Amino acid sequence: MTFALHPLANADGKVILFGEHAVVYGEPALAAGLTGGLTLRATPLDDPTAFATLSVPAWDLEIPLDVESDHQVARAALAVLGHCDAPVRGHRIIGEARIPSRSGLGSSATLTVALARLGLGPNAPAPAILAAATEGEQIFHGAPSGIDAHVACHGGVVRFSRDLGASEVRPRVGFDLLIVPTGVPRHTATQVAHVRARIDAEPQVYEPLIRALGSTTMAGIDAVLHHDLPRLATLMNTAHETLNALGVGHPRLDEVRRDAQTEGALGAKLTGAGGGGCMIVLPPPGATKALADGLTRRGHAPIFARIGPP
Ligand code: PMV
Repeated sequence: MTFALHPLANADGKVILFGEHAVVYGEPALAAGLTGGLTLRATPLDDPTAFATLSVPAWDLEIPLDVESDHQVARAALAVLGHCDAPVRGHRIIGEARIPSRSGLGSSATLTVALARLGLGPNAPAPAILAAATEGEQIFHGAPSGIDAHVACHGGVVRFSRDLGASEVRPRVGFDLLIVPTGVPRHTATQVAHVRARIDAEPQVYEPLIRALGSTTMAGIDAVLHHDLPRLATLMNTAHETLNALGVGHPRLDEVRRDAQTEGALGAKLTGAGGGGCMIVLPPPGATKALADGLTRRGHAPIFARIGPP
């Protein structure tokens, strides 16, 4: 048992480029880290026996880490800190977030990984951080694939599959993406269960869609490595339609997609669990700002992301 939390910890947000949902069934996915996703700071409370508090103002989150609490975030946070054998009393933990919560950008994994780093310290080995974070991710997501926690911990551009784990994808040329939140919250476990129910009911219909999403990931990796943006855009559009066919779309996602197309986007797809959350939009080369401005004029709040080298 350590006696104090470490004062500062970071974790990356993540954006899934391809393979969401399919990754749950063993297919590959491609994801990228969003640097500066969440920073946590821990300071001692005057009363060392009081329950720790956790607040992330950008997420409207302000909770005591009360061991009796049935608040999901409190339970997850306590599970992570408990796994680290770290103190769960006597600290105020404050978070600064660059990504919205519950929108498919890995907010829960940023929280669990950053908490694990508060508990285990900056020099803790990645497997120990991931093992602790997974305790919390299980409370948030039931049976997580692990992709969110991996990217929150390591960042970069990552190919991930359940059986092979993670491997870095290193494009020589990077590209811009705009992430456009719909403002519609959704729950990953509910979306995952929804896909599971469809597959169980009609495996002959829906299993091929899962395999197709996995193949789209592999083609997408090739397009990213060759900086083939038109191909990447086509694959993004196809993946979006496939995810819609799996039942994880939302009218607001398609609205963002139409607006993005009208403003000149090359491609657009939902990212993460769907049912709300965010779209990712691929701008034409050199037109990221113009597209972001156009989307802003239409009432959206795009977030800039660079995938691969600057
Ligand atoms: O929580 P989200 O929206 O980032 O989605 C996670 C990706 C899923 O494939 C839908 C679930 C998983 O555990 O991989």
